Amino acid sequence: MTYAAITGWGAAMPPSVLSNADLSTFLDTTDDWIQSRTGMKERRVSHVSAIEMATIATRRALACAGLDASEVDLIIYGSCSNDEQVPNSASGVQAAIGATRAASMDVNTACTSFLYSLSTATAMVRTGVVRNAVVIGVEIISPFMDWDNRNVAVLFGDGCAAVVVQASEREEGVLAEQLGCIADARATLRVRGMGVAYANRGLVMGDTSWDFDGPEIFKRAVQGMVQASAAVMKKAGVTPDDIDLVVPHQANLRIIEAVVTKSGLPMDKVMLTVSRYGNMSAATVPVALAEALSEGRVKPGALLLMPAFGAGLTVCAHLVRWGERVTPLAVSDAAFPPCPKSALELVNDIRARKAGAHERSAAGFDAPLYSAA
Ligand code: UT7
Repeated sequence: MTYAAITGWGAAMPPSVLSNADLSTFLDTTDDWIQSRTGMKERRVSHVSAIEMATIATRRALACAGLDASEVDLIIYGSCSNDEQVPNSASGVQAAIGATRAASMDVNTACTSFLYSLSTATAMVRTGVVRNAVVIGVEIISPFMDWDNRNVAVLFGDGCAAVVVQASEREEGVLAEQLGCIADARATLRVRGMGVAYANRGLVMGDTSWDFDGPEIFKRAVQGMVQASAAVMKKAGVTPDDIDLVVPHQANLRIIEAVVTKSGLPMDKVMLTVSRYGNMSAATVPVALAEALSEGRVKPGALLLMPAFGAGLTVCAHLVRWGERVTPLAVSDAAFPPCPKSALELVNDIRARKAGAHERSAAGFDAPLYSAA
């Protein structure tokens, strides 16, 4: 029997930090409201494109696994915030790292995109279609944010992480998963105008408008993740006591607390990043996983539970058996270029471009926000 072990991991977090105080310079909000309703203190804003973030994370994950780009058979790019829609983004990472023999695909299930991608890669490895896969969870929300809408602008951040999945004869990697979609609630989270993240090649960055029913999503997300977590533990024949670490989607501390408590688990078994990074959509689970590893919170042979939800409303939970190795084989020198601006300056730049989108020529917003890969 072939399994699909996770053998490499790497996060790529943009350096610019946007605090709650920064947000209250242009929104009617407070640090107290944001922290008490969400658990968030700050989030990151990227000064490079999503493909560039994903390339850094992928290089780090490949070094960690001791795998050369030429050995990669498959790249799956989990995201709902692509730099552009065509060509796909996975091919941008493929070109950047020189993985000439790989197949490349994007998967968009919003915040669950990394875990759906992990399921896809695991299935392809287990059935012998590929042996070595890279699975990326990346999100660049900042250019698509409606920065005038306090209901959503305080919740999200940019970020990325990638893992390497390889064929193994040992029983490790995803042991069981539950995937679903509460499609009758799909109107609770919709971003109109999401498309192209940079203004160039004669295109302007579009206005986006967020339809967002936070309390309804909150309720459905808790129910869905509790059910998916119970289902996945039942499938694998394990109990909450057998779980060593929960690595959940990080949309709101109160959602995590509700899911974890209702699932019969204690909060000290949870890896949390929500206060530092906010909701990075597809990137939250792999970034939390990479940080749990670097903090020594994943022990050899550990059993990990990963519940998540996203627009759709997609819901899932994964049970992952970790292997023996919890340290990188090597460390990549891939790094972000220096950022000349503060996070608030980056956001104000995006706000000005969006405000000027309708009077583009007069406002002179022709210069690219990021260089296109
Ligand atoms: O990963 C997928 C995407 N993430 C989610 O879908 C998140 C799911 N939902 C949530 O996390 C929570 O529902 C929120 C954090 C969005 C909201 O928390 P809540 O406890 O459901 O909010 P609430 O109903 O207690 O508070 C809403 C009030 C409204 O005011 P009124 O109508 O009660 O007077 C809002 O206008 O809070 C107001 N409000 C704010 N006030 C200050 C909303 N956003 C803000 C803000 N600052 N940023």
